Amino acid sequence: MTYKMIIDTDCGIDDAITIISAIKYGIDIVGITTVSGNVYVDQVTDNVLRILNFMGRNDIKVFKGAHKPLISEKTTPAKIHGENGIGDVELEKSPKSEEELPAPYAIYKLARENPGIVLLTLGPLTNIAMAFNLYPDLKNYVSKIVSMGGAVNFGNVTRFAEFNFFYDPEAAEFVLRLGIPILLVPWDPVVATPIFEEELKETFKGSVGKLILQMEKTVMDFVEKVRGVRGVFLPDPMALATFLDPTIIKSKINTSMHMELNHGSLMRGASIIGEGHGTEIVMEVDKGKFLNFFKNIF
Ligand code: RIB
Ligand code: CA
Repeated sequence: MTYKMIIDTDCGIDDAITIISAIKYGIDIVGITTVSGNVYVDQVTDNVLRILNFMGRNDIKVFKGAHKPLISEKTTPAKIHGENGIGDVELEKSPKSEEELPAPYAIYKLARENPGIVLLTLGPLTNIAMAFNLYPDLKNYVSKIVSMGGAVNFGNVTRFAEFNFFYDPEAAEFVLRLGIPILLVPWDPVVATPIFEEELKETFKGSVGKLILQMEKTVMDFVEKVRGVRGVFLPDPMALATFLDPTIIKSKINTSMHMELNHGSLMRGASIIGEGHGTEIVMEVDKGKFLNFFKNIF
Protein backbone atom coordinates (compact mmCIF):
# COMPACT_ATOMS: atom_id res chain seq x y z
CA MET A 1 0.00 0.00 0.00
CA THR A 2 1.27 3.42 -0.76
CA TYR A 3 0.41 6.62 1.01
CA LYS A 4 0.00 10.26 0.17
CA MET A 5 2.16 12.31 2.49
CA ILE A 6 3.24 15.83 3.29
CA ILE A 7 6.70 15.85 4.85
CA ASP A 8 7.55 18.72 7.19
CA THR A 9 11.28 18.92 7.84
CA ASP A 10 14.21 20.85 9.34
CA CYS A 11 16.50 18.99 6.92
CA GLY A 12 19.26 17.69 8.72
CA ILE A 13 21.10 14.53 7.67
CA ASP A 14 18.56 12.08 9.06
CA ASP A 15 15.76 14.14 7.51
CA ALA A 16 17.54 13.86 4.15
CA ILE A 17 17.77 10.07 4.59
CA THR A 18 14.04 9.98 5.37
CA ILE A 19 13.09 12.01 2.29
CA ILE A 20 15.31 9.80 0.12
CA SER A 21 13.81 6.65 1.67
CA ALA A 22 10.23 7.88 1.20
CA ILE A 23 11.01 8.47 -2.48
CA LYS A 24 12.63 5.05 -2.85
CA TYR A 25 9.68 3.38 -1.11
CA GLY A 26 7.30 4.98 -3.60
CA ILE A 27 5.43 7.27 -1.23
CA ASP A 28 3.33 9.83 -3.08
CA ILE A 29 4.90 12.95 -1.56
CA VAL A 30 2.44 15.73 -2.39
CA GLY A 31 4.66 18.45 -0.92
CA ILE A 32 7.56 19.14 1.43
CA THR A 33 7.37 21.99 3.92
CA THR A 34 10.40 23.41 5.69
CA VAL A 35 10.98 24.80 9.17
CA SER A 36 13.89 26.18 11.20
CA GLY A 37 15.47 23.58 13.46
CA ASN A 38 18.71 21.77 12.70
CA VAL A 39 19.60 24.81 10.59
CA TYR A 40 17.84 28.04 9.64
CA VAL A 41 14.80 27.62 7.36
CA ASP A 42 16.50 29.18 4.29
CA GLN A 43 19.26 26.59 4.52
CA VAL A 44 16.72 23.82 5.21
CA THR A 45 14.81 24.80 2.06
CA ASP A 46 17.96 24.85 -0.05
CA ASN A 47 18.94 21.42 1.34
CA VAL A 48 15.57 19.90 0.45
CA LEU A 49 15.67 21.36 -3.08
CA ARG A 50 19.19 19.97 -3.61
CA ILE A 51 18.23 16.51 -2.29
CA LEU A 52 15.19 16.38 -4.59
CA ASN A 53 17.36 17.48 -7.53
CA PHE A 54 19.90 14.75 -6.70
CA MET A 55 17.06 12.21 -6.63
CA GLY A 56 15.68 13.44 -9.98
CA ARG A 57 12.44 14.51 -8.27
CA ASN A 58 12.18 18.21 -9.03
CA ASP A 59 8.47 17.59 -9.57
CA ILE A 60 7.96 17.54 -5.76
CA LYS A 61 7.01 21.02 -4.59
CA VAL A 62 8.77 22.65 -1.65
CA PHE A 63 7.15 25.28 0.58
CA LYS A 64 9.12 27.41 3.03
CA GLY A 65 7.74 27.78 6.56
CA ALA A 66 8.48 29.23 9.96
CA HIS A 67 11.68 31.17 10.62
CA LYS A 68 11.57 30.75 14.37
CA PRO A 69 9.62 28.95 17.08
CA LEU A 70 6.24 30.42 18.17
CA ILE A 71 7.54 31.84 21.45
CA SER A 72 11.02 30.53 22.25
CA GLU A 73 14.03 32.33 20.91
CA LYS A 74 15.74 30.51 18.08
CA THR A 75 18.48 28.34 19.53
CA THR A 76 21.54 27.21 17.67
CA PRO A 77 21.76 23.44 17.85
CA ALA A 78 25.10 21.68 18.18
CA LYS A 79 26.71 21.58 14.76
CA ILE A 80 26.60 17.80 14.68
CA HIS A 81 24.89 17.91 11.24
CA GLY A 82 27.70 20.17 9.92
CA GLU A 83 27.48 23.88 9.04
CA ASN A 84 24.94 23.32 6.25
CA GLY A 85 22.90 20.66 8.08
CA ILE A 86 23.71 17.88 5.63
CA GLY A 87 27.20 17.01 6.78
CA ASP A 88 28.76 19.83 4.69
CA VAL A 89 28.28 17.75 1.54
CA GLU A 90 28.01 20.11 -1.45
CA LEU A 91 25.22 18.82 -3.65
CA GLU A 92 24.54 20.47 -7.00
CA LYS A 93 22.27 23.51 -6.74
CA SER A 94 18.71 22.83 -7.82
CA PRO A 95 17.36 24.72 -10.83
CA LYS A 96 14.13 25.05 -8.86
CA SER A 97 13.10 27.37 -6.02
CA GLU A 98 10.50 27.01 -3.35
CA GLU A 99 6.88 27.78 -4.21
CA GLU A 100 5.32 31.11 -3.26
CA LEU A 101 2.78 29.70 -0.80
CA PRO A 102 3.95 29.68 2.82
CA ALA A 103 4.12 26.24 4.45
CA PRO A 104 1.09 26.46 6.79
CA TYR A 105 -1.20 27.42 3.92
CA ALA A 106 0.36 24.82 1.61
CA ILE A 107 -0.32 22.12 4.23
CA TYR A 108 -4.00 23.13 4.30
CA LYS A 109 -4.34 23.35 0.53
CA LEU A 110 -2.58 20.04 -0.14
CA ALA A 111 -4.56 18.26 2.59
CA ARG A 112 -7.85 19.53 1.16
CA GLU A 113 -6.83 18.29 -2.25
CA ASN A 114 -5.80 14.91 -0.78
CA PRO A 115 -8.19 14.01 2.05
CA GLY A 116 -6.93 11.27 4.36
CA ILE A 117 -3.36 12.49 3.94
CA VAL A 118 -0.59 11.58 6.41
CA LEU A 119 1.60 14.36 7.86
CA LEU A 120 5.13 13.15 8.53
CA THR A 121 6.89 15.65 10.79
CA LEU A 122 10.66 15.49 11.17
CA GLY A 123 11.40 18.80 12.87
CA PRO A 124 9.93 21.32 15.31
CA LEU A 125 6.13 21.49 14.98
CA THR A 126 5.87 25.25 14.31
CA ASN A 127 4.37 24.97 10.80
CA ILE A 128 1.98 22.23 11.84
CA ALA A 129 0.65 24.21 14.83
CA MET A 130 0.26 27.31 12.65
CA ALA A 131 -1.59 25.38 9.97
CA PHE A 132 -4.10 23.85 12.40
CA ASN A 133 -4.54 27.17 14.19
CA LEU A 134 -5.24 29.05 10.95
CA TYR A 135 -7.47 26.33 9.48
CA PRO A 136 -9.26 24.31 12.20
CA ASP A 137 -11.07 22.21 9.55
CA LEU A 138 -7.67 20.85 8.49
CA LYS A 139 -8.48 18.11 11.05
CA ASN A 140 -11.05 16.75 8.61
CA TYR A 141 -8.45 16.05 5.95
CA VAL A 142 -5.54 14.59 7.93
CA SER A 143 -5.81 10.91 8.88
CA LYS A 144 -2.65 10.69 10.98
CA ILE A 145 0.36 12.65 12.16
CA VAL A 146 3.56 10.61 12.25
CA SER A 147 6.14 12.52 14.22
CA MET A 148 9.69 12.29 15.50
CA GLY A 149 9.86 14.13 18.80
CA GLY A 150 9.65 14.09 22.57
CA ALA A 151 11.27 12.02 25.27
CA VAL A 152 9.65 9.58 27.67
CA ASN A 153 12.68 8.64 29.79
CA PHE A 154 15.65 9.95 27.81
CA GLY A 155 16.18 13.23 25.99
CA ASN A 156 19.04 14.47 23.83
CA VAL A 157 19.04 18.20 24.69
CA THR A 158 18.55 17.69 28.40
CA ARG A 159 17.90 14.53 30.38
CA PHE A 160 14.16 14.98 29.73
CA ALA A 161 13.93 17.00 26.52
CA GLU A 162 14.32 16.00 22.90
CA PHE A 163 15.44 18.57 20.31
CA ASN A 164 12.35 18.90 18.03
CA PHE A 165 9.90 19.37 20.89
CA PHE A 166 12.35 21.39 23.01
CA TYR A 167 12.93 23.84 20.14
CA ASP A 168 9.25 24.79 19.96
CA PRO A 169 7.43 23.36 23.00
CA GLU A 170 4.30 25.53 22.55
CA ALA A 171 3.87 24.21 19.00
CA ALA A 172 4.40 20.63 20.22
CA GLU A 173 1.80 21.08 22.98
CA PHE A 174 -0.68 22.54 20.49
CA VAL A 175 -0.29 19.58 18.15
CA LEU A 176 -0.38 16.99 20.95
CA ARG A 177 -3.78 18.42 21.98
CA LEU A 178 -5.37 18.31 18.52
CA GLY A 179 -7.04 14.96 19.03
CA ILE A 180 -5.76 13.60 15.72
CA PRO A 181 -4.24 10.09 15.90
CA ILE A 182 -0.49 10.50 16.37
CA LEU A 183 2.26 7.93 15.97
CA LEU A 184 5.22 9.30 17.86
CA VAL A 185 8.83 8.18 17.80
CA PRO A 186 10.48 9.85 20.81
CA TRP A 187 14.20 9.82 21.56
CA ASP A 188 13.93 6.62 23.69
CA PRO A 189 13.86 3.93 20.94
CA VAL A 190 16.35 5.97 18.91
CA VAL A 191 19.05 6.11 21.57
CA ALA A 192 18.56 2.38 22.21
CA THR A 193 19.31 1.67 18.54
CA PRO A 194 22.77 2.93 17.58
CA ILE A 195 23.71 2.09 14.00
CA PHE A 196 27.41 1.41 13.49
CA GLU A 197 29.43 2.33 10.40
CA GLU A 198 29.58 -1.24 9.03
CA GLU A 199 25.80 -1.58 9.44
CA LEU A 200 25.26 1.71 7.62
CA LYS A 201 27.44 0.50 4.74
CA GLU A 202 25.56 -2.82 4.53
CA THR A 203 22.18 -1.07 4.63
CA PHE A 204 22.43 1.93 2.33
CA LYS A 205 23.80 0.76 -1.02
CA GLY A 206 24.40 2.28 -4.45
CA SER A 207 25.08 5.89 -5.37
CA VAL A 208 22.40 7.15 -2.99
CA GLY A 209 23.83 5.01 -0.20
CA LYS A 210 27.22 6.58 -0.93
CA LEU A 211 25.72 10.03 -0.43
CA ILE A 212 24.21 8.93 2.89
CA LEU A 213 27.60 7.61 4.07
CA GLN A 214 29.23 10.89 2.98
CA MET A 215 26.68 12.97 4.93
CA GLU A 216 26.95 10.79 8.04
CA LYS A 217 30.75 11.04 8.07
CA THR A 218 30.60 14.34 10.01
CA VAL A 219 28.43 12.73 12.66
CA MET A 220 30.61 9.62 12.91
CA ASP A 221 33.79 11.72 13.22
CA PHE A 222 32.13 13.61 16.09
CA VAL A 223 30.81 10.46 17.80
CA GLU A 224 34.20 8.77 17.49
CA LYS A 225 35.88 11.68 19.29
CA VAL A 226 33.34 11.61 22.13
CA ARG A 227 32.50 7.90 22.41
CA GLY A 228 35.34 6.10 20.66
CA VAL A 229 33.00 4.28 18.22
CA ARG A 230 31.84 5.15 14.73
CA GLY A 231 28.05 5.17 14.63
CA VAL A 232 24.92 7.26 14.24
CA PHE A 233 21.31 7.44 15.33
CA LEU A 234 18.47 7.49 12.81
CA PRO A 235 15.56 9.30 14.51
CA ASP A 236 13.63 10.61 11.50
CA PRO A 237 14.02 7.44 9.41
CA MET A 238 12.65 5.51 12.41
CA ALA A 239 9.40 7.52 12.24
CA LEU A 240 8.94 6.70 8.56
CA ALA A 241 9.91 3.02 8.93
CA THR A 242 7.75 2.25 11.97
CA PHE A 243 4.74 3.82 10.29
CA LEU A 244 5.20 1.89 7.05
CA ASP A 245 6.15 -1.40 8.73
CA PRO A 246 4.63 -1.61 12.23
CA THR A 247 6.22 -5.06 12.76
CA ILE A 248 9.46 -3.10 13.43
CA ILE A 249 7.87 -1.88 16.69
CA LYS A 250 8.70 -4.15 19.65
CA SER A 251 6.78 -2.14 22.22
CA LYS A 252 4.67 0.98 22.34
CA ILE A 253 2.35 2.77 24.75
CA ASN A 254 -0.95 4.43 23.99
CA THR A 255 -1.14 7.48 26.20
CA SER A 256 -0.97 11.26 26.06
CA MET A 257 2.09 13.49 26.08
CA HIS A 258 2.32 17.09 27.20
CA MET A 259 5.07 19.67 27.31
CA GLU A 260 6.52 21.58 30.25
CA LEU A 261 6.06 25.20 29.15
CA ASN A 262 7.01 27.13 32.28
CA HIS A 263 9.64 29.69 31.27
CA GLY A 264 11.26 29.72 34.68
CA SER A 265 11.62 25.96 34.79
CA LEU A 266 14.80 24.03 34.13
CA MET A 267 12.41 21.43 32.70
CA ARG A 268 11.03 23.74 29.97
CA GLY A 269 10.70 21.71 26.78
CA ALA A 270 10.58 18.38 28.60
CA SER A 271 7.84 15.90 27.72
CA ILE A 272 5.44 14.66 30.36
CA ILE A 273 3.41 11.50 29.99
CA GLY A 274 -0.23 12.12 30.86
CA GLU A 275 -3.16 9.93 31.71
CA GLY A 276 -5.12 10.17 28.48
CA HIS A 277 -4.70 8.20 25.32
CA GLY A 278 -4.59 8.77 21.55
CA THR A 279 -0.86 9.19 21.13
CA GLU A 280 0.86 5.94 20.22
CA ILE A 281 4.42 6.22 21.44
CA VAL A 282 7.02 3.80 20.11
CA MET A 283 9.26 2.64 22.97
CA GLU A 284 11.37 -0.15 21.44
CA VAL A 285 12.16 -1.34 17.94
CA ASP A 286 13.62 -4.51 16.46
CA LYS A 287 16.96 -3.33 15.06
CA GLY A 288 17.22 -6.16 12.51
CA LYS A 289 13.78 -5.40 11.08
CA PHE A 290 14.48 -1.67 11.16
CA LEU A 291 17.63 -2.07 9.06
CA ASN A 292 15.91 -4.60 6.77
CA PHE A 293 13.28 -2.02 5.95
CA PHE A 294 16.01 0.12 4.35
CA LYS A 295 17.96 -2.81 2.88
CA ASN A 296 14.81 -3.76 0.97
CA ILE A 297 14.43 -0.35 -0.64
CA PHE A 298 18.10 0.52 -1.29
O1 RIB B 1 16.14 14.93 18.23
C1 RIB B 1 16.32 14.41 16.96
C2 RIB B 1 15.61 15.26 15.95
O2 RIB B 1 16.19 16.56 15.95
C3 RIB B 1 15.73 14.77 14.53
O3 RIB B 1 14.54 15.12 13.85
C4 RIB B 1 16.89 15.56 14.01
O4 RIB B 1 16.86 15.68 12.60
C5 RIB B 1 16.64 16.89 14.66
O5 RIB B 1 15.62 17.61 13.97
CA1 CA C 1 14.78 16.42 11.80
